[in-house]
Amino acid sequence: MKKIQKILNKKNKSKIVCLTAYSKNFAEEIDKHVDITLVGDSLGSVLYNYSSTRKVTLTEMINHSKSVRLGIKKSLMVVDMPYKTYDTNKSAFKNAKKILKETKCDAVKLEGGKKIIKQIKFLIKNKIPVLGHIGLLPQSVKGKFKSKGKNIKEIRQLINDALLLQKNGVFAIVLECVKTSIAKEITEKLDIPTIGIGSSVNCDGQVLVTDDLIGLNETNIKFVKKYLNLKKYINSGLKKFALEVRSKKYPTKKHSY
Ligand code: KIV
Repeated sequence: MKKIQKILNKKNKSKIVCLTAYSKNFAEEIDKHVDITLVGDSLGSVLYNYSSTRKVTLTEMINHSKSVRLGIKKSLMVVDMPYKTYDTNKSAFKNAKKILKETKCDAVKLEGGKKIIKQIKFLIKNKIPVLGHIGLLPQSVKGKFKSKGKNIKEIRQLINDALLLQKNGVFAIVLECVKTSIAKEITEKLDIPTIGIGSSVNCDGQVLVTDDLIGLNETNIKFVKKYLNLKKYINSGLKKFALEVRSKKYPTKKHSY
């Protein structure tokens, strides 16, 4: 709870930094720089080439999260509940409890507002911390990804969902691909923090898929900024190794028993 309070305390003071991690070695580095480490079900497309996050299973999420847990020392660890694992209060509670117990994460994230409010309320009542997620919901998208908040109906739904999630106790809300002015309005209306992805600087924090920003995952999504071309560094190291093996420069005596 202390870690969650720390996130809440950042509202209107300092920005919240959140990144995804899918394994221990990455989590170890990510943890040094973020407030929240998210084991996102984006791992379905990033690691497994699934056409949709709907294909990600509970077992996959738990296994990756167990690995991530090993790398985390200080940040709040949140795990995405995969598609179809929170359809009812009973299934949401059973699966969230399993995620928390097996991965030792701090909270779970569920996609949606009013449609899943009963399950969110039930989890929070049963002491399971929940991070909300509204706007573009990858688990619900069939076809093209589109930004949200473009017409009155969408704007009303976003604002109502945000207020409803806050009222029912989520500690923060991810706003995905929400129009700048609406993200600003929601952020100003709420006492809890918003964490944006493609939703402008007006949010209380930002989240990105780590593999996208370090250039491991090729993408042309508008909101992704590539901070590093990690593939270039990996390739230069691997190329050197292959050259040295072929030219018998490696291993030397130093590397041999
Ligand atoms: O699955 C994921 O990685 C996410 C974030 C990008 C918000 O939900």
